Amino acid sequence: MNAPSTGELGAIWQVRLEAPADAAQVAALNAESFGPGRFAKSAYRLREGVAPIAALSFVAIEKDALRGSVRFWPIKVGGHEELLLGPLAVKGDQRGRGIGIALMQAGIDAARQGPWRGILLVGDEPYYAKVGFSRLPPGRVKFPGPVDQNRILGLSLKSGELLTLSGEVRRAQIDEPVCADGAGVG
Ligand SMILES: CC(C)(COP(=O)(O)OP(=O)(O)OC[C@H]1O[C@@H](n2cnc3c(N)ncnc32)[C@H](O)[C@@H]1OP(=O)(O)O)[C@@H](O)C(=O)NCCC(=O)NCCS
Repeated sequence: MNAPSTGELGAIWQVRLEAPADAAQVAALNAESFGPGRFAKSAYRLREGVAPIAALSFVAIEKDALRGSVRFWPIKVGGHEELLLGPLAVKGDQRGRGIGIALMQAGIDAARQGPWRGILLVGDEPYYAKVGFSRLPPGRVKFPGPVDQNRILGLSLKSGELLTLSGEVRRAQIDEPVCADGAGVG
């Protein structure tokens, strides 16, 4: 799906949709990437009890091994359903190969086909700017719990729509009990 990268010994990673059979490995990757502190983060509160969007959940696979994962969660921003990016994680010994960017790009491309206006995340602007995210004006949106305003980033999926995103960021509807594992950002 995404441009694969030739790695050592000619191995190639590929990005594909996450399958149910990947879930345990993805949970383990998020646990090792973010540690127990992930449960205390603002983003986790938004994911708790809400299922990730399957059509926007991607994994990078190489020789049957999981290299990275990205998921997106539905959130409400000022009453409208939008997207929260993350967790995004790449195996420690596989970083710097372009996997993280390719995973995000796959998710963003898929999200453009949907009804959402924009994607929010809490993270490092220099990294996420590589796929088009930029800082929101301070105070424009309010996450639950303390969040560094300089780390609130957004990407418009429809021309200019991000400019209109504002208000409280809340959980989307509660699904059946699920493990919102790996509050990667926030
Ligand atoms: C962040 C993460 C997903 C990046 O994955 P990756 O596959 O190494 O990223 P890519 O190879 O696609 O991109 C690497 C590039 O991004 C840069 N980069 C990585 N993390 C960055 C950061 N936090 N801030 C700025 N630049 C960053 C690298 O320097 C590199 O730049 P270059 O291409 O100019 O050399 C990975 O390091 C990771 O899983 N970290 C732990 C979990 C985490 O922090 N997730 C993000 C939560 S905010």
